[in-house]
Amino acid sequence: MSTEIATGYTLQEEPYYLPLADEVELFQAAYEQRLPVLLKGPTGCGKTRFVEYMAHRIYRNSVSAPEQPLQTVACHEDLSATDLVGRFLLQGDETVWQDGPLSRAVKEGSICYLDEIVEARKDSTVLIHSLTDHRRILPVEKLGLILEAHPDFLLVISYNPGYQNVLKDLKTSTRQRFISIDFDYPGLEEETSIIAHESGVVSEQAERLALVGEKVRNLHGHGFDEGVSTRLLVYAGQLISQGVAPDRACDAAIIKAVSDDAEVQRAVAELVVAIFPPA
Ligand SMILES: Nc1ncnc2c1ncn2[C@@H]1O[C@H](COP(=O)(O)OP(=O)(O)OP(=O)(O)O)[C@@H](O)[C@H]1O
Ligand SMILES: [Mg+2]
Repeated sequence: MSTEIATGYTLQEEPYYLPLADEVELFQAAYEQRLPVLLKGPTGCGKTRFVEYMAHRIYRNSVSAPEQPLQTVACHEDLSATDLVGRFLLQGDETVWQDGPLSRAVKEGSICYLDEIVEARKDSTVLIHSLTDHRRILPVEKLGLILEAHPDFLLVISYNPGYQNVLKDLKTSTRQRFISIDFDYPGLEEETSIIAHESGVVSEQAERLALVGEKVRNLHGHGFDEGVSTRLLVYAGQLISQGVAPDRACDAAIIKAVSDDAEVQRAVAELVVAIFPPA
């Protein structure tokens, strides 16, 4: 059984990222001072892509860049400190220690991105605290040692406040260890560029999809809080690129995907029909 929970990321190619405000400069400045960063924003708005882009930008000219400049961990409710730090594994009749993604990043000096941190178990936040203040240390209890973070190490976490789960809110003592960068869905023009680039549809189609996005997000408040993500609009574009009729692509990637609520689906379908009339 594989115990790998993180995806490492290498520097081969520059990820496409379209900056929407001053987030690139802000993150860069935070990195120079090794200030931990919290990325806040709704699902599918570009947070992960942004960190990949920043990792590339920060390490691309570094002679001592770690092999995997970015360790991404998708946090979930069973994720424990052990998953992040490491564990003993049985190999044949030997027990060997295997570092977790956080230990690896701490040792190698890479960026560790804990996606949806509020999902993780409470014992994980303890680790975060000692890594994000002046100590910059990671206690590895099972080995009885304390790792001092490599000078290049940076911790980045993300948080989607939209779930509105009070129990899973980020604790003040955790939140106040990070500078916070807010993300939101791009404006019409930017989203058009992103959809066109990511899906390969012509810009006229991309613009229509972006328009669907804008209109659907304006439904906000009618029992429908999340809107539609840039990710889904890109999916719709990808289906269209494959030859699927636009209204069918929107049905599968947008209307049916945004919500299970028939009422909401109907409202979204009405908007889509106006922008992509059936052939
Ligand atoms: N500013 C942007 N530049 C380039 N691509 C973008 C941008 N914003 C969104 N995208 C596109 O949207 C997709 C989804 O973005 P991403 O996976 O980064 O979202 P996320 O905010 O991490 O979502 P989640 O909270 O669900 O993890 C990307 O794969 C990319 O195609
Ligand atoms: Mg993400």
